[in-house]
Amino acid sequence: MPSSKTQRWDPTQYGKNARFVSDLGVPVVELLSPQPKERILDLGCGDGALTVKLGEVGCTLVGVDSSAAMVKATKALGLETYVMDGESLRFTNEFDAVFSNAALHWMKNPQRVIAGVWQALKPGGRFVGEFGGYGNVATIIAAIESALHTRGIVVANPWFFPGIEEYKGLLEAGGFEIKFISLIPRPTLLPGDVGGWLETFAQPYTSALPADERQSFTSEIVETLRNVLCDADGKWNADYVRLRFFAKKPNNAT
Ligand code: BEZ
Repeated sequence: MPSSKTQRWDPTQYGKNARFVSDLGVPVVELLSPQPKERILDLGCGDGALTVKLGEVGCTLVGVDSSAAMVKATKALGLETYVMDGESLRFTNEFDAVFSNAALHWMKNPQRVIAGVWQALKPGGRFVGEFGGYGNVATIIAAIESALHTRGIVVANPWFFPGIEEYKGLLEAGGFEIKFISLIPRPTLLPGDVGGWLETFAQPYTSALPADERQSFTSEIVETLRNVLCDADGKWNADYVRLRFFAKKPNNAT
């Protein structure tokens, strides 16, 4: 999924700890409103669960992801997918829509992503997506960075979580018309404790530690966050904030 060099994706682990990502993607699919016979690019398609759902309406789906392991898993589902970096898309004027769920926050150079999406779209095409917005997982990041700090380790935030004005400005600078953009706090129920989330998503941080210290580091974060993110029934909710948007390449664009 991501461009981050320190993040490794394992489709099996992803299915166990992150199925909620595609399950909660329904509102952004509805915003896209895919139509039969449309040609749609799924940017950061992950394990393809949402790509399959999009294809059910009878459009042609192409998926790209920077993880070879994820793309291999999607091919087993019969999807047309390619290993491709979202910051270096290689399509020209061929899609009715570009869709992206929970992937754009891994791409730290949004100008390059937006330029590639623009080039991939036909005039009048839509760019519809959802990803982590300003304040996303701030509680988790604070706990991780504090625990690393006590070990004398500093890791730059690996994610891009913009606010509305910042992302709107980037889309407009890329030539898009904004039809909808919203920042949506969405506390997200995790399938287990926050340790599974850390193992699946936070490798850019944990890989800064020696391998034999990662397990105890994760346990420490779980205990730090237990009072904050875990309720009386033992259910863990991550402090997700989504940035959801619908942008259009003008009909008269070249
Ligand atoms: C997210 O979907 O918001 C997210 C996933 C992994 C790391 C950071 C954020």
